Amino acid sequence: MCGIIGYCGQKPGAAIVIEALKRLEYRGYDSAGIASLCDGRLLIKKDAGKLEEVVHKQGLAELPGNVTVGHTRWATHGAVTQANAHPHSDCTGRIAVVHNGIIENNQELRRELTGLGHRFTSDTDTEVIAHLLEDELKNGRALEQVVLSIVPRLEGSYAFLAASLDDPGKIVGTRKNNPLVVGIDSPNYYISSDALAFSTYTNKVMTLDDNEVVVLSPGRIEFLDARGSKTVKQVKQLDHSWAENSRGIYPHFMLKEIMEQADVLGQTIQQDQKTFNRIALDILRARQVIITACGSSRYAALVGRYLFSKVGKRFCDVVMASEFGYFADSVDKGTVVVAVSQSGETADVVEGVKAAKAAEAQVISIVNRPNSILADMSDHVIYLNCGPEIAVAATKSFLSQLAIFYLLSYAMVSSFDEAASSLIGLCGETTRVLDWNKSELIRLSETLKDSSDFYYLARGINFAIASEGALKLKEISYIHAEGMPAGELKHGTLALIEPGTPVVVICPADYTFSETLSNAIEAKSRGAYIIGVSDKESDVYDSWIRIPRVEELLYPMVAVVPLQLLAYYLAISRGCDPDKPRNLAKSVTVK
Ligand code: AGP
Repeated sequence: MCGIIGYCGQKPGAAIVIEALKRLEYRGYDSAGIASLCDGRLLIKKDAGKLEEVVHKQGLAELPGNVTVGHTRWATHGAVTQANAHPHSDCTGRIAVVHNGIIENNQELRRELTGLGHRFTSDTDTEVIAHLLEDELKNGRALEQVVLSIVPRLEGSYAFLAASLDDPGKIVGTRKNNPLVVGIDSPNYYISSDALAFSTYTNKVMTLDDNEVVVLSPGRIEFLDARGSKTVKQVKQLDHSWAENSRGIYPHFMLKEIMEQADVLGQTIQQDQKTFNRIALDILRARQVIITACGSSRYAALVGRYLFSKVGKRFCDVVMASEFGYFADSVDKGTVVVAVSQSGETADVVEGVKAAKAAEAQVISIVNRPNSILADMSDHVIYLNCGPEIAVAATKSFLSQLAIFYLLSYAMVSSFDEAASSLIGLCGETTRVLDWNKSELIRLSETLKDSSDFYYLARGINFAIASEGALKLKEISYIHAEGMPAGELKHGTLALIEPGTPVVVICPADYTFSETLSNAIEAKSRGAYIIGVSDKESDVYDSWIRIPRVEELLYPMVAVVPLQLLAYYLAISRGCDPDKPRNLAKSVTVK
């Protein structure tokens, strides 16, 4: 959460930084600001509000200078106010800091610094960094030396950039457990939480290790380890698809990402069969297998669990990443941990993987973003290959995750090729299901937009799709929604069904059909409005969302797509911005 960007070079920095912030907005969008060094002055402009509003209100584009840092915020410490927006400064106004992460000991540091006479102007944890730098810079040391000297005092996770009038013409950056990547286009340098921010300028990147420091000045770049010794880094090439960041013909990224899923599936299937076979063998040989993830990625993992069991006859458990640490006692050398994360930087997943590695478990990660923290920590990495996903709500990455689990489970029985061809056959179905149902979904969104609660039911492998459908709805339309195994309905939730309550029943004509339909009838008898997601029509459904008939284990992939579109249209009917839901951010880099 929060996106940071720095530019140091020969061009005017403000325009570059504003463009980069637009690409980072998925990381947070409650406040924004930039700081620029120019002619012996440090200029800072910032405010609460979405980037576009702040750019206009504060005239961000007018800031001169070619050493510039910027920030887009997702509030953790301190309310959404102008004072709490980044960049933050010290007492003298000679230092600018932008930060992503949490300084856990900020209260102690704040007390100490206040005791020493420092005056704080915000409620953020970040501001302590600026004041710590201020004290050390007084001694005339280089900014990078000062950064190196203060970071041992910071507890928590961070990636931050600092610029100062006392050592002008440079940006210094460092990180611990939060991402930071440098873009090289000498004499111009970029540094950001995500290479997407500067990918229109360069695809040459260098990543920082934890506790490393980078110094950028026009035409010069230097990396230092935690002891201040120079380190040599490799330049990596970023795939050109990661520069793409346009909505195209669509009004929202979410709609674009839903619509492009047929192509995405085609890209996801492009995997190295040998790697899959090797990983499948490790999974089969392990004493135990644990999959860990959060949010939608966890629901994909739950589908994966059924696939591992049904196809590979391999039982495994799925542990919510935020709870993983509490099970760490039973993780050992014989454990394979599969970590699933679109961003590859979700703090809970990273933390869980750290614990797993400490226990000598083997870590396999399934990620989308290249150069992510999670990928760097893993023994094997499987990439989703679905390109940048910008909307906060996961859609195409979820479908790709399902495809990866499908391929992996078939690799366990030496049938990777067979699985890949089934998935190729499925690409067109994901488009067909949208064409079939678009008008009915629009009609439903108008009819049901004032409903206060939705329930989603399914059984077996489709149960996680009920949860995913409910998650999509609540995160972008703010309607309360719950997904559950259909059989659980009568163990409590049935009490909440009233005349007209929408109940979405995922009811494919597979081994779950009859029992799921019985549960739908139970809900209908209490007045529920039944939306049946099925390839088989039934008069139990008040609305029928038709899905194609596919192989039993592929139903989750065709059932989830119309549920994504239903959530999208409901958000639109209710006047919500589906790309930027309130209180959320796409990358959850705090625990
Ligand atoms: C999904 O729509 C959500 N935005 C969220 O639950 C997300 O899946 C979760 O934060 C995990 O993210 P990750 O896949 O990047 O780890």
